[in-house]
Amino acid sequence: MVYLTRIEHFNAAHRLYNPDWTPEQNDEVFGKCANTNWHGHNFELFVTVKGIPDPATGFIFDAKKLSVIVKERIIEKLDHRNLNLDVDFMQGKLCSIENLVIGIWNELVPALPSRVQLHCLKLVETPKIYVEYYGDKFP
Ligand code: NI
Repeated sequence: MVYLTRIEHFNAAHRLYNPDWTPEQNDEVFGKCANTNWHGHNFELFVTVKGIPDPATGFIFDAKKLSVIVKERIIEKLDHRNLNLDVDFMQGKLCSIENLVIGIWNELVPALPSRVQLHCLKLVETPKIYVEYYGDKFP
């Protein structure tokens, strides 16, 4: 298998807040991230697909086509948005990058052609924090 990664970028606002908790509990757990008036990040999304090179093109998948799919299905929904309020697949979920990367995975998988397989999503929130997801299911 060969692994191909395309990087896309988006800016978005969010807030970490558990509505079942008091403001004090939210402040204690989430600190500044619970700020009522939101905060923003410049996110980088690394989309890695795997496959076998096509003999006719040498590509496992055209990176430009991958970019178009990611932009249409994901970036359009997230860029310059409020992740808590504006994004359909984040409704009712705590807006952490862990939950966001799972949501992105579930949106992206059905949009990819069958001959490539999504291998990994890496979502970078700050220069010091990122998450990776490989599609593992949870009980
Ligand atoms: Ni944040």
